[in-house]
Amino acid sequence: MRATLSALLLAAAASTATAHGHEGHAKAHQEYARAAAVDTSTLKGKWLYGYQGWFRKPAAGVNNHWSPNGGTPGPGNVEFEFVPDVSQYPANCLFASTLKAPNGQPVQLYDNTCQGVVDLHFKWMQQYGIDGIVVQRFLSHLDDTSFITVLNQVEAAAVKYGRGFMVEYDASGGNSATGSVAAQILADYNSKVKPYTTSSAYIHHNGKPAVMVFGVGYTTVAINVTDGANIATQLKGAGAYVGYGVPPTFGTDLRANTGFAAAYKAANLISPWTVGSFSEGGYLKGYHTTTQIPDSQTLHSLGIDHAPLIWPGTSAYHLNGATTPSSFDYFPRYNGSFYSMQADAITSLAIKPLFAFNAMFDEINEGTQSLPCLKNNQLPTNEKFVGYDNNFADTAFYLELGGQKGAAFAAAVN
Ligand SMILES: *[C@@H]1O[C@H](CO)[C@@H](O)[C@H](O)[C@H]1NC(C)=O
Ligand SMILES: *[C@@H]1O[C@H](CO)[C@@H](O)[C@H](O)[C@H]1NC(C)=O
Repeated sequence: MRATLSALLLAAAASTATAHGHEGHAKAHQEYARAAAVDTSTLKGKWLYGYQGWFRKPAAGVNNHWSPNGGTPGPGNVEFEFVPDVSQYPANCLFASTLKAPNGQPVQLYDNTCQGVVDLHFKWMQQYGIDGIVVQRFLSHLDDTSFITVLNQVEAAAVKYGRGFMVEYDASGGNSATGSVAAQILADYNSKVKPYTTSSAYIHHNGKPAVMVFGVGYTTVAINVTDGANIATQLKGAGAYVGYGVPPTFGTDLRANTGFAAAYKAANLISPWTVGSFSEGGYLKGYHTTTQIPDSQTLHSLGIDHAPLIWPGTSAYHLNGATTPSSFDYFPRYNGSFYSMQADAITSLAIKPLFAFNAMFDEINEGTQSLPCLKNNQLPTNEKFVGYDNNFADTAFYLELGGQKGAAFAAAVN
């Protein structure tokens, strides 16, 4: 979901003043019992995380997502904002960067296709009581078989740990002018994705496999309204329950019946992508009051399900070429209090959402990840990164917090 992020960030930065002063959430570590297996027959009350699964070991011709030039990541050559804590990853799944840890050793990074990485991610989801993931399928990379490798591992790990998964097409690279995006997605769904929907771990809703499509409704994405509507119509025809990831302004168009309203109405569910759309100081009286609540009512009146998105903060320094210091820790996490505020607000909505979409499990390029990352005092010494807070009991803080918030959300919705 990168194509539109920078623009959103810049727009948001121009229009939001950041104010804070909240207490941190540096809670004592708690032990969690293994969560019971997730009921994958319904989306109701689920607490799901988007999953990129796109980090690779550097190799010729591979977009490894660690470094902009494809080579070994190191000082001046990184495109991620936080540094994953790889202490529990299988050693053979790691490779050395030229970033230096405080002890002088090279910082190790991971390859997402390596057997054991996806397994560990799902093991954590079980440990912290997180229901599962919305795994991304990139329209611009449908022929990259490494994503099928990851999808196979996702399916196996979700079954093993009693979690759920569903596929979301990231259609931000779609272009109706070069052919029907709806036809492209339908063909891929039928040939590549549908086989996974028979898995006991594949998330269904109303008896149908759930599929999402991100990128409908953006002026920066060249999918036109008719094509946008056809995507949902055709996937529904193939037996799916269809959710759309859309701009946070979707409600205005739905109420006025303008813009992409016809496309939105074709979907079963809407999930606005709100990363960078509001600040910690502006959320409750701003977006939540003026947009999120009325939008939940609009969707309800139209019989469309709602999956609000929550995000812990975001950073875009390396993503923006490391030339804009203000992009660093652009929307700070305030030790988790920004995330908690959004989680509590969607849990308290009068019209209950269907499920919660967390941005994201592993998106360290945009700094929205929840997976374990290094604390400030563990960061590399020869490049600039954002760290988790030193006073967190451990680096899994955001997964622990997510599990707690997810349990409260499920209790309110079910
Ligand atoms: C977050 O934690 C750091 C210590 O790691 C502390 O210095 C800071 O005051 C905390 N911030 C908030 C908003 O609680
Ligand atoms: C929208 O895209 C579809 C699919 O390529 C195309 O058939 C249709 O003519 C386009 N509509 C407009 C108004 O451009």
